[in-house]
Amino acid sequence: MQQIRTAVITISDSSYKGEREDKAGPLLLGLISPLCEVVKTLLLPDEREIIAQSLKEISDSGEVDLILTSGGTGLSSRDVTPEATLDVLERLVPGIPEAMRSYGLQFTNRAMLSRAVAGTRKRTLIVNMPGSPAALKENTSQLLPVLEHAISVLKDEAFACARPHEH
Ligand code: MTE
Repeated sequence: MQQIRTAVITISDSSYKGEREDKAGPLLLGLISPLCEVVKTLLLPDEREIIAQSLKEISDSGEVDLILTSGGTGLSSRDVTPEATLDVLERLVPGIPEAMRSYGLQFTNRAMLSRAVAGTRKRTLIVNMPGSPAALKENTSQLLPVLEHAISVLKDEAFACARPHEH
């Protein structure tokens, strides 16, 4: 399969203002590089309308199969990434954040504090991730193995979901 055309969006007020280096974006680029061709990277503030508008424009362009966001999924008053994402999603894929939280709980009980959501808009899969390096490593380890299949089905390029060793 071709590489997955991907946009990576870091969402952080402090990085946006230049007060803190964005470590999440570059880390995420490295983690997904075996499967994904990153065609766009963005750094946005924790502003619901700005985030939603960006997600909408990128998914509606038809040029991106996957959008990964990092940060803004927690409980602080400025954490609005899930709300902005829900503003634009057409269909939820709850299993993705379920799997990510469930896996993360092995390492930290704080994994349950991420309100990340995932879903589709047109032919784009949008997945929220928390912003910490550990969370990004743990979450991508769960997402990457299903990504090719998820994107193929989303693009109507694959129809059978049978696992290789199923009878
Ligand atoms: N998930 C995993 N797998 N590993 C982690 O270290 N950190 C948690 C949680 N999810 C964490 C995790 C913490 S401490 C918080 S506050 C929430 O994600 C939200 O993070 P965010 O506000 O950067 O999105």
